[in-house]
Amino acid sequence: MSRVITQSDQLDFTLADLEDMPAPGKVMVVHPKYFDVKYVINPHMEGNIGDINKEEAETEWNRLRDAYNNLGLYVHEVGPQEEYPDMVFCANQSLPNIKADGTKEVIMSVMHSPERKGEVPHIEKVYEESSYKVIHLDESQFTDFEGMGDAIWHYKKRLIWGGYGYRSSKDVYDHIAETLDTPVIALELIDEKFYHLDTCLCILNEETVLIYPKAFTEDGLAKIRKIFSTVIEANTFEAEELFACNATCPDGKNVLIQKGCVEVNAKLEELGFIVHEFNTEEFLKSGGSVFCMKMLLW
Ligand code: ARG
Repeated sequence: MSRVITQSDQLDFTLADLEDMPAPGKVMVVHPKYFDVKYVINPHMEGNIGDINKEEAETEWNRLRDAYNNLGLYVHEVGPQEEYPDMVFCANQSLPNIKADGTKEVIMSVMHSPERKGEVPHIEKVYEESSYKVIHLDESQFTDFEGMGDAIWHYKKRLIWGGYGYRSSKDVYDHIAETLDTPVIALELIDEKFYHLDTCLCILNEETVLIYPKAFTEDGLAKIRKIFSTVIEANTFEAEELFACNATCPDGKNVLIQKGCVEVNAKLEELGFIVHEFNTEEFLKSGGSVFCMKMLLW
């Protein structure tokens, strides 16, 4: 079942029809030594050039890294590269996969922004050293694909949610569906403040998702509601200013989220999730928060 669903009326399967996948047991993070805002490639970065408190950024990043350790995940810390101030957002350079037979592979991104293209080979090296089979997109055919910023695995199911419009193109998903032998549900993004799917959709467990509805079309929302039985909606302040939907829930229970998302957190706790708040203020200045500061791996 390797096809792309672009319209809600094409959705003819339920979660029960999908293959199971293991939950990730590892997390990759890139040290923020050279993290900075040096250019503007998303609306959140505007006015923030040179405004990063490096020491504060490192403190915030250390707390987050330690939290993954505490949740029992194996943390793979990757060294920073001076030329790439955004490399700390390591959800973007790749899309890893584990096959039913346990073999691991990864599709490397074709970054939309020229400023970030050079990050990809550095991340590729990490996969090579971790015995992943590395797959490259044909760059003459596909010009935009930003990895797990836009292509997000459903929790423990062989299904990808594929955002497009700003950093990834819609047509790349046919190729991804075929290469990874996985259905993809494509979602158009319509608000440039929510330029990656991971800024407006956070999969919490098999049945539950946290979204910012205004970032999607009506038909996109219909697709989300057909698959998830529980849809939590973030308000504009928490989604836009605090990146509430850029949270992460690696085990279907513990949610790591920017601090201060009062309304979202109350909804999460009501549903039985355990909320862990983190300050990612320095990274918010660059248009990123918890989810995109790591890559979950097998
Ligand atoms: N400054 C980075 C960029 O614009 C932030 C990336 C955040 N990543 C994410 N998946 N939301 O590319």
